[in-house]
Amino acid sequence: MSEHPSMLDITDLGPEGLASVVDLALRPVGDLGRPLEGDGVALVFEKPSNRTRHSMEMAVSQLGGHPVYTRGEEVGLDSREPVEDVIRVLAGYHRIVAARVFDHGHLKRMRAAAVTSVVNLLSDHSHPMQALADVLTMTREFGDLTGRVVAWVGDYNNVARSLAEVSLMSGMDVRLACPAGYDASDAELDRLSLLGAGAISQSDAAASAVEGAHAVHTDTWVSMGQEDDAATRRAAFADYTVDAELFSLAADDAVFMHCMPAYRGLEVSADVFDGPRSRVITQAHDRMHAARGLLAHLVGVR
Ligand code: CP
Ligand code: NVA
Repeated sequence: MSEHPSMLDITDLGPEGLASVVDLALRPVGDLGRPLEGDGVALVFEKPSNRTRHSMEMAVSQLGGHPVYTRGEEVGLDSREPVEDVIRVLAGYHRIVAARVFDHGHLKRMRAAAVTSVVNLLSDHSHPMQALADVLTMTREFGDLTGRVVAWVGDYNNVARSLAEVSLMSGMDVRLACPAGYDASDAELDRLSLLGAGAISQSDAAASAVEGAHAVHTDTWVSMGQEDDAATRRAAFADYTVDAELFSLAADDAVFMHCMPAYRGLEVSADVFDGPRSRVITQAHDRMHAARGLLAHLVGVR
């Protein structure tokens, strides 16, 4: 492992790292000790957050560290000062710098400075912290995930990419159902197909993706920063609501999952989101356990 292990994407962990994070996340808090004692963890947010901020702050605290939350405009990545100056300064205060950014390239530049560990708290490209919680929730539900089937209905966005990666790396099959123009490219499908033994497939038909699936996931049709395109996007995704009829095609023991915030009546109907097979609140709470596992892994707890 490098001197400053980082996680910009789930694939940065590799299969063994992912297994280690899941194992650490499932252990009782007290088992991990206080590996961040005396250390700071910077949490920089260019976009709003409920789950990510709270789960990260609590995870840092549980490991004995001190989280420092900063709004993006206070740091001003490439506006108030260059990304490289920001990370070199923060590295003097913090063992880990975690950031939610519009431009994934800013995270890559932080990592390239090689002065501290960098963690992606959501970018335009991916949302690996969410995917760690997703795999934790599915593991709690199903145990061994090998051969289980994940269906993704909607936008092939940051959350979808990280979920596809973590699911394939966990031995699951992944079926994407996305409208044209909001789907994964052939090159992306080829890349994903190399991540695990499971199969990756894509179509524009939600019903065939959900049929027999064990976990049905979706997300908002309008991600943060896409608000100007909301009307166009809602029209494009009109046939992609996960409602009771669609969800009934899934396996008998299937669960519904959503990273939240959710928009009832758009990407998911209220009866599914709030129904007995929904695991969205467990999933949200698993953000904290996953964050604790990831932070402990990055500072060398095994
Ligand atoms: N799922 C998620 O990342 O939620 P927040 O935007 O509230 O952090
Ligand atoms: N895809 C959403 C996820 C929010 C947690 C967004 O980027 O806004």
